[in-house]
Amino acid sequence: MTVIPNLTDLRPTPDDILGDVLTGLAQSPKRLPSKYFYDRRGSALFELITRQPEYYLTRTELGLLKASADQIADAVGPQAHVVEYGSGSGKKTRLLLNAFKDPVAYTPIEISHSALAETVRKIDRRFGSLEVLPVCADFTKPVPLPRPARKADHALIFFPGSTLGNFDADEAISILRAMGQTMGSRGGALIGIDLQKPRSIVEPAYNDKKGATACFTLNLLVRLNRELDSNFDLDRFAHHAIYVEEHSRIQTFLISQREQEVEVAGRAFRFAAGELMQVEYSHKYTDAFFSALAAEAGLRVAHRWNDPNNWFGLRLLRRIEHA
Ligand code: AVJ
Repeated sequence: MTVIPNLTDLRPTPDDILGDVLTGLAQSPKRLPSKYFYDRRGSALFELITRQPEYYLTRTELGLLKASADQIADAVGPQAHVVEYGSGSGKKTRLLLNAFKDPVAYTPIEISHSALAETVRKIDRRFGSLEVLPVCADFTKPVPLPRPARKADHALIFFPGSTLGNFDADEAISILRAMGQTMGSRGGALIGIDLQKPRSIVEPAYNDKKGATACFTLNLLVRLNRELDSNFDLDRFAHHAIYVEEHSRIQTFLISQREQEVEVAGRAFRFAAGELMQVEYSHKYTDAFFSALAAEAGLRVAHRWNDPNNWFGLRLLRRIEHA
């Protein structure tokens, strides 16, 4: 295992991938947790998705960050301790750190040790002087931040990519509440959210012509077959992603191509022909809905930035102070 300099290791007990899968397959409808998409190949396939013409999210957010960087920097203020949730998004992080006035430290928080090592390796090459203080932890819980050598004015959490949208409303609120704890009373959080828009734009983003998204979805089964004693037949499942207007979200399924039986750790699971297994949500937010989520978590939207088409937004959240 790579040694990560200055690491704060708060790694929780390893994921119970077998337990999670068995629980999900016993439910009706069946489901698999989307957090298991991101093994090595899954992360590479996600990168491929971000380069597909239909997948507007990454490109739009990057353009928005570029266009708004100075305004964001003004709103955030000098001497921030920049804290990023999830594997460093490279370009986006660099943009922010370059725009911010005198950033004191950068803390990527990532649950996967190997992904964290990769992020640190990349960032170290680009920002020689910035203090890099990585934390291996689960950001869905409050994270005690390491103290930079030079005192920071406040913490600024960066959570790009509309990753929050992969969680249902209850989970999102609990993540936002934990975020309020982590950022502290003087802190803020800059969150990327994919905004509600017509089905004709959203659905193709999750059904790209090249099939990158289909590969990404099916890779979940490849991973399970490798890490668990399971025998999913990749030719007997297909990617299926639809926009469910009622919930304002993309729902991604693996659809069973025929009646079949799959074994996982000696247990048999029957699939009917055409049966849908839920694997991912990607919520598309309205301003009202996102503000309500934040408020439930004790946070308020202090600033908002959208791209010219109102396809993607960045929101700066602060804690609601109680008298
Ligand atoms: C990781 C949340 C940015 O939901 O859009 C992309 C993951 N899944 N295509 C998203 C994903 C299928 C993605 N995010």
